[in-house]
Amino acid sequence: MARILVTGGTGYIGSHTVVELMQQGYEVVIVDNFSNSSADVLDGIAAIVGVRPAFEQVDCNDAAAMDAVFAQYPDIVGVIHFAASKAVNESVAQPLMYYRNNLMSLVTVLEQMKKHDVHHIVFSSSCTVYGQPAAEYLPVDENAPIQKALSPYGNTKQINEEIICDEAHADAQLRATILRYFNPIGAHPSALIGELPNGVPQNLLPFVTQTAAGLRKELKVFGNDYNTPDGSCIRDYIYVVDLAKAHVKAVERMLQGTATEQVEVFNLGTGKGLSVLEILNTFMQVTGVNIPYQIVGRREGDIEQVWAKPDKANAVLGWKADTPIEDVLFSAWKWEQKIRK
Ligand code: WQD
Repeated sequence: MARILVTGGTGYIGSHTVVELMQQGYEVVIVDNFSNSSADVLDGIAAIVGVRPAFEQVDCNDAAAMDAVFAQYPDIVGVIHFAASKAVNESVAQPLMYYRNNLMSLVTVLEQMKKHDVHHIVFSSSCTVYGQPAAEYLPVDENAPIQKALSPYGNTKQINEEIICDEAHADAQLRATILRYFNPIGAHPSALIGELPNGVPQNLLPFVTQTAAGLRKELKVFGNDYNTPDGSCIRDYIYVVDLAKAHVKAVERMLQGTATEQVEVFNLGTGKGLSVLEILNTFMQVTGVNIPYQIVGRREGDIEQVWAKPDKANAVLGWKADTPIEDVLFSAWKWEQKIRK
C-alpha cells in the first residue's frame, strides 16, 4: 500500500489524520519536531491502530534531514503538510518566526518532493483566508473572495496557497489539494489522542473543557454585542475526526488521478454556524457540568460570523461532517478528563 508522509503528524489534526490513514490501510511516516506536541501522541496512535507509525523527529525547514527522510522511505507517494505554527496572537508578536517557519517549511517540502519524484500534496489551510465574508458570501464557498489577512498567521496560509499555485504553474506534474478548515474541535472517541494546548488555551473548546475540569476559574466570552442572534460570534465547529476523514478522501482522489485541476480547493466545515453561547450551553447540557462565565469585551481580530458551504467537498470528495455537536463536545470533555487523571 502507498506510503504518505505526514508533516506535523503528532499535532492535533495530524494525529487524528494518521489514525484514519492507517485504519484505511495506508503506510505513513510522520515527520515532526515536537515543537507543539510530544512522543506520547505516538503511543496514543499505536494504542488506537495497533501499529506504531514510522516516525522521524525532523524540522521541515531542515532540507538535508528532509532529503534523508524521502531517501529512507522511497515508497512515499504523497505528502500531507500540517507542520506550521498556528497561534494567531503569537504570530502578531513574532511575525518573522511565523513567516520563516510556515513559508520555508512548505518550500522545503515542495523542493524535496520534486527531488524525490513525489507529486501529490494535501495542504492544511484555514477559513481564515476569507477574513469576515460579506453577508452575500455566507455560507462561504470556495469562490468567496480572499481578504487581507488579519494576522501574520492568516497571511502565511494565504501565501502558502499562492506558493502551491505558483509551483503548480511551473511544474505540470504537481497535484495539490488545499483544504480550508473551519474550527476543528473534539477528540478521538477513544480519548487516547486529542488537543494538547500549550499554556493558556487561546481557542474556545480547550478553555471550556479546562474550566469544566476546574483548571480555569471562569470562561471569558469575548463580546455579546455582535450582530448575531444572541450577540456572540458564530463559527463552524467541525469534529476533528470528520476533518481527518476528509484528508483520507483527498489523498484517495489525488492518487486515483481523478482531480480535474492541478490545484483543487475544498472548504471543510459542517455547513452550520453555532455561536459561542450555543456551544457553551450545549456543552453544559451534554456534560451536566456548569461552566462559570463572564461576558467581557470583544477580542481584537475576531471576526463576527463565518460558516462553510461544504457542498463541493460533500459532492466531490464524497465526504460529510455529520457528527452531532453533542457527541463532539462530549468527546472533548472525555479527553480533558482523561489527561487530567
Ligand atoms: C472561537 C470563538 C472567540 C476563546 C482561530 C484561528 C483559526 C484556527 C482556529 C488555527 C471566537 C470565542 C474564544 C475564549 C471566547 N486556528 N472565544 N473565549 O478565532 O475562530 O479561529 O482558531 O488553525 O485559523 O483563526 O477560534 O476558538 O479562538 O474562537 O469567547 O476564551 O470563541 O471570541 O468568537 P477562531 P477560537
